[in-house]
Amino acid sequence: MSPQRVQEIFDRERAAFEAANPRSRELYQRARGSLLGGVPMSWMMKWAGGFPLFAASAEGSTITDVDGHVYADFCLGDTGAMTGHVPAEVADTIAAQAARAITTMLPSPDAPVVSEALRERFGLPLWQMTLSATDANRFAIRFAREITGRPRILVFNWCYHGSVDETFATLREGRVVARQGNVGPPVELERTTRVVEFNDAEALEKALAGGDVACVLAEPAMTNIGIVLPDPGFHDTLRALTRRSGTLLIIDETHTLSTGYGGYTREYDLEPDLLTVGKPIGGGVPAGAFGMTQEVAERAFAQPEADYVDTGGVGGTLAGNALSLAAMRAALTEVLTKESYARTIPLAERFEAGVREAIELHGAPWHVTRLGSRVEYTFMPEQPHSGGEAAAGHDDELELLLHLYALNRGVLMTPFHNMALMGPTTTKEQVDLHTTVFSEALDELYGETEPENRLI
Ligand SMILES: Cc1ncc(COP(=O)(O)O)c(C=O)c1O
Repeated sequence: MSPQRVQEIFDRERAAFEAANPRSRELYQRARGSLLGGVPMSWMMKWAGGFPLFAASAEGSTITDVDGHVYADFCLGDTGAMTGHVPAEVADTIAAQAARAITTMLPSPDAPVVSEALRERFGLPLWQMTLSATDANRFAIRFAREITGRPRILVFNWCYHGSVDETFATLREGRVVARQGNVGPPVELERTTRVVEFNDAEALEKALAGGDVACVLAEPAMTNIGIVLPDPGFHDTLRALTRRSGTLLIIDETHTLSTGYGGYTREYDLEPDLLTVGKPIGGGVPAGAFGMTQEVAERAFAQPEADYVDTGGVGGTLAGNALSLAAMRAALTEVLTKESYARTIPLAERFEAGVREAIELHGAPWHVTRLGSRVEYTFMPEQPHSGGEAAAGHDDELELLLHLYALNRGVLMTPFHNMALMGPTTTKEQVDLHTTVFSEALDELYGETEPENRLI
């Protein structure tokens, strides 16, 4: 498959996209007059068609755009809508809550219901609420630095934990540098952060040995540079090394909540000191949380100088507001249930099997990985073991093409990856539509070399 072939198909698909979406294009042109980049959040410039689709409505696992096209949505708000769009339980609950109270700066009766639900699910006893996973990570890091008195954190190469300053660090020739494109880093990343490759126990041991790392912040399986699964035993080593060096372990379950009801932590019996989560726990309403062990809580409150009540750097005016809490209660107790995983995981298995079969039939040097209800395909023949390996397999042009190809055929993938997420409302028909479209794309890309293997 030549880059020229990719470009040819891309140009054709771009023209088709433009012709099919006049209303979205019109709205985009208008928006450019008053919105930076023509979008309400600059990362929305990522969509593959040259302008974003404007969504008119979203329901279950479908989105309808302003030009009337209906999409099978596997992006699901990049996990923010893993509950499916507008689940009735959440919609009804927040409508009723909005009529009672939205933000008061007082706890609502839902507060202990939500923390008990989080405790039951993830196993950690004490919780605080935020409005996003980014904030949950920022505050968890502050707790860790405060109670250990250590300056640095450690993250894995090519991680993503939200817009948290200390985490935008990568390895370049063994040195810690700001990740490419990092906008206005406050200080050199080397001063705040150690970086090692995921699954590299030796490098991890070395990096923690100096006793100056407050915490390791890790996704239990990396999900933001394709899926990178932990090698057998890696989590045991990570926990043993962090304990031995007095480093706290923060597990970020924001995406890996796809693994199962209590995320990867519950599924694989991890024992983090703190756990962070966000995105779908409010069913699409802004919500995040971080949990901690009793010991972390006691150590935090034992710090005489730390101000947890006023301007100590941990908190947000609207965090824990009544509307978010109501949404969390409904999403956690009524939507993200064990039964819902029993439905979504087999759908993801079906998705994975369809993609794998198409890859094999076309002889494409790609592979597919699944983490519970989340599936991702990557342009590498083998499963990567680290962020560095996964990053080396990226192909922006090919990725954009596949996204656009899918969009033009009614399938929405996550713009930043080849990621597909199943929600409780996803259907087999939607999964099979993706398989058909994916096979068509492979036919066009690899058909010349494997014509006898065409699926459709
Ligand atoms: C693992 C992980 N943690 C945290 C975040 C931050 O989430 P938010 O942007 O909703 O704050 C993300 C966002 O993609 C993420 O992937």
